[in-house]
Amino acid sequence: MSNRKISNKMWGGRFNDQTLPLMEEINSSIDIDKRLALVDIMGSRAHVKMLAQRKIVKQATKRKILKGLDQIEKEIILGKFSYKKSLEDIHMNIESRLHKIIGNEAGMLHTARSRNDQVVTDFRIWIRESIDQINKELELLKQSFVELAEKNFETIFPGYTHMQIAQPVKFSHHMLAYVEMFHRDGLRFHETRKRLNECPLGAAALAGTSFPIDREYTAKELGFDSPMRNSMDAVSDRDFVIEFIFNASICMVHFSRLAEELILWSSSEFNFIDLPDNLVTGSSIMPQKKNPDAAELIRAKSGRVYGALISQLTMMKGLPLCYSKDMQEDKESAFDAFDTLILVIKITNLLIGSIQINKENMEKQAENGFSTATDLADWLVKKP
Ligand code: ARG
Repeated sequence: MSNRKISNKMWGGRFNDQTLPLMEEINSSIDIDKRLALVDIMGSRAHVKMLAQRKIVKQATKRKILKGLDQIEKEIILGKFSYKKSLEDIHMNIESRLHKIIGNEAGMLHTARSRNDQVVTDFRIWIRESIDQINKELELLKQSFVELAEKNFETIFPGYTHMQIAQPVKFSHHMLAYVEMFHRDGLRFHETRKRLNECPLGAAALAGTSFPIDREYTAKELGFDSPMRNSMDAVSDRDFVIEFIFNASICMVHFSRLAEELILWSSSEFNFIDLPDNLVTGSSIMPQKKNPDAAELIRAKSGRVYGALISQLTMMKGLPLCYSKDMQEDKESAFDAFDTLILVIKITNLLIGSIQINKENMEKQAENGFSTATDLADWLVKKP
């Protein structure tokens, strides 16, 4: 007699065996994509409303599904939802819970939809929301730089090239250079947001669906500008993820340059600035030390964001159309890049808002190294 058990997976109807634990380990994404739970519910609400509006499901079924989704949303927000690895991902975890709450009608929710268009719809919404959050934080940071520049508007500062004193500038001039960088970063995120704001729903697995759906309806309901034009592209495209992380990477270049300057300037050799006590650490052995750890970590964390970019480019390279399970790997590093960037923006904002400027030393150093030699040379040339 066979000791094989029938698969208990949602898709396991024709399978005669259960998946191995290691298979479950590599296949499951719930530990990562549970972060999409609320946007997944948002997508499902729009989808079922559209199905009812097009009379693909009954109004009563729609109401039942919406009520079930409300309950699931509450459970998730209250931390009472129990995520199961055996249910693979967030989509099947939610669908299975819905089934428990409202019974067989739960299955109607997935009419005219595949996880392929569902997941990428969720992810577009998540990245859109993340961009809004990043841009809000970047605006606050730019404001802090402007305030610091205003406070020290006339302070003379040594400008460097090749890490050697070159010409005297104003400290405000130097600070406002960073405002330009972070402004460009914001514009880049904004452009990506505009480009990604098209709705993949209706693409289903790859070829669309024979149900008479209304793609304009779901696109509008979810705040997208329009449905995506090509269903195969809709489920295959991850350009928006790569762009998002690329933008984060350039932004991290700027943060790492700033961090390096803060580290140098706060050293006793430069002594241009003082970092606040609540954003530095001490040494366990050298009592004179005040280590610029926050700035050093900002400098270092650029590496993990670039790592995310390389990982996504490599994951997508050479993938045939349309969806392959490779693409499930698109979330973890994108989430990490976002978390890193947000943390870095916030902590930089604290640093910029609280550094003390050593004006006398800046001005003294600005006079060193023949820093006015260029002006003298210019004067000699211009002299009648
Ligand atoms: N968890 C999957 C992902 O994140 C959802 C899509 C699965 N699609 C499939 N055909 N198996 O990519």
